[in-house]
Amino acid sequence: MEKEKLLEEITKNIKDCKKCRLCRSATNAVPGEGNINSKMVFIGEAPGFNEDVTGRPFVGRAGKLLETFLKEIGYKREDVWIGNIVKHRPPENRDPLPDEIATCKPFLELQLKTIHPVLVVTLGRFAMNYFYRDGKISRDRGNLIRAADFLIYPVYHPAAALRGNSMMNDLRVDFKRIPEVLKKAEEILELGVKLPQISGQDFDGQLNLGL
Ligand code: URA
Repeated sequence: MEKEKLLEEITKNIKDCKKCRLCRSATNAVPGEGNINSKMVFIGEAPGFNEDVTGRPFVGRAGKLLETFLKEIGYKREDVWIGNIVKHRPPENRDPLPDEIATCKPFLELQLKTIHPVLVVTLGRFAMNYFYRDGKISRDRGNLIRAADFLIYPVYHPAAALRGNSMMNDLRVDFKRIPEVLKKAEEILELGVKLPQISGQDFDGQLNLGL
């Protein structure tokens, strides 16, 4: 089946999903959207209020900040693919629970297998820990980490940056490096560079770009 059809099929399955409690309190599923041929995808935690109402990822204040930072590096949101690790909104925007993340895991796995990006920019600690179990966001943000078929680049969540502390500046700095990081990620995948081993389920290594 071709890429577009496969992703449509996954979207349909996400919308029909009743495997965890979150579908009972949510209005809409938020499967993800954007350019399915992009080399770069952005993955957040879970839909919030605005995303739940519209069925679209990152359309609230955090989304506006994401769009601003994308623009600063020459991208529009339509140029990239944007999704979440959990597809239904947790009540009152609470943190997603481990069993909810685990139940939803196959959807993003399938989406990423189909989109086949070079670089996955993870927004916040939950998205980072989805790929890198032992990751710590304050330590690992801004580092390039090898996952299965792609590399991840953890950054702070835009919503955390909006809370008004030094994270805003850290997020801007990390975003500014994205074009360079993407180039590096392409080189690493092309050359089949094996990175040093680190602990964490799906990973084979971490590279500090030292930029
Ligand atoms: N925060 C997220 O993690 N995801 C969204 O889609 C919106 C806000």
